[in-house]
Amino acid sequence: MPEPELLECGHCGREADAGELQTTCPDDGRPWLARYDLEAIAAGHELADLAGGRNDLWRYEPVLPTVAPENRASLGAGHTPLVDAPRVGDELGLDQVLVKDEGHNPTGTFKARGMEMAMSRALELGAERFAVPTAGNAGAAMAAYAARAGVPARLFVPEDADDSVFERAEDFAAEIETVDGLITDAGDACSEYVEAHDDVFDLSTLKEPYRLEGKKTMGYELAAQLDGELPDVIVYPTGGGTGLIGMWKAFAEMEEMGWIAGDKPRMVSAQAAGCAPIVEALEAGAEFAEAPENPHTDAGGLRVPEAVGDFLILETIRDSGGAAVAVTDEEIHDAKDRMPRASGVSACTESAATLAALEAMVDEDVVAEDEMVVLFNTGAGWTG
Ligand SMILES: Cc1ncc(COP(=O)(O)O)c(C=O)c1O
Repeated sequence: MPEPELLECGHCGREADAGELQTTCPDDGRPWLARYDLEAIAAGHELADLAGGRNDLWRYEPVLPTVAPENRASLGAGHTPLVDAPRVGDELGLDQVLVKDEGHNPTGTFKARGMEMAMSRALELGAERFAVPTAGNAGAAMAAYAARAGVPARLFVPEDADDSVFERAEDFAAEIETVDGLITDAGDACSEYVEAHDDVFDLSTLKEPYRLEGKKTMGYELAAQLDGELPDVIVYPTGGGTGLIGMWKAFAEMEEMGWIAGDKPRMVSAQAAGCAPIVEALEAGAEFAEAPENPHTDAGGLRVPEAVGDFLILETIRDSGGAAVAVTDEEIHDAKDRMPRASGVSACTESAATLAALEAMVDEDVVAEDEMVVLFNTGAGWTG
């Protein structure tokens, strides 16, 4: 199983040692991307072989960072169902709509994938205490993994976060600090705390390299579940964008290893109209996104005015020929009511935005009837 060979800055290309704990590129503060010897991996493995392994994300071990079994804070993240949703397809006039139901993950959301990988790898490299800013789901996941590993976890949570967030984190005995402001303010408070405490490692998304590696397993899993095929369109509820960037990284790796052939999916970001920096940056043709002035939406995970990986989200959408679609909270709430009834999948508020976005795309005729579309349900309905 490979260590990554090295870490490479996703923006300037500077390289760093993957064998040490790393945060972001010291030159430009941008995220590190883990790079592996894909030729060697491809020489020893095929996508179909991996399916015979464990029923969690470690089945993709050959393309993941090295973690000794004793350091794996494993709660069984990954291996979520890809559910056929023919009645959603019928309503939209599409032959094949599928839902990747990430609500089956530990703590009910896809955040478990990133946390399982990042905490395990950080433990492997010597970290002992953890902190994270969170609007809810990432914090619940980190708290659970910290409990599993028996290490302290501190969460920085915006004051107006949903009460259930605090309850879920308290179940796992995490320390919680409330922050007056948005998730970006919670991020600043977390950074200050980490700077003042040498022994605390910051697990903020894209401020260390391995939450992305955990999330990229969604891309490997999709390809495995579709026997090496990929959908034509993926619609993903986008806040910080780690899942979208991670899946695109997985597709690029698989392409390089010859594990997939043909066109890769068009990656579509569904955002809330009250906080749609990616939609606006795409329209403006910008490399980076600008924070909206008064970011607001009931979909807490989409209320991310500034994403560290904004340029990577934009690059992914552009390279894939995808799109970004803003939908109103009214449309999101309406879709949240309809999605479970039409598919049997209990959808979180963030993911209801994917159905509303797909409906808008169908209205605009940018999805053909015979195209396969995958909607990402990033969390179970009970999570929010
Ligand atoms: C349920 C849910 N969906 C989507 C998102 C956005 O995810 P990402 O940061 O990968 O864009 C979040 C983030 O908090 C979330 O909790």
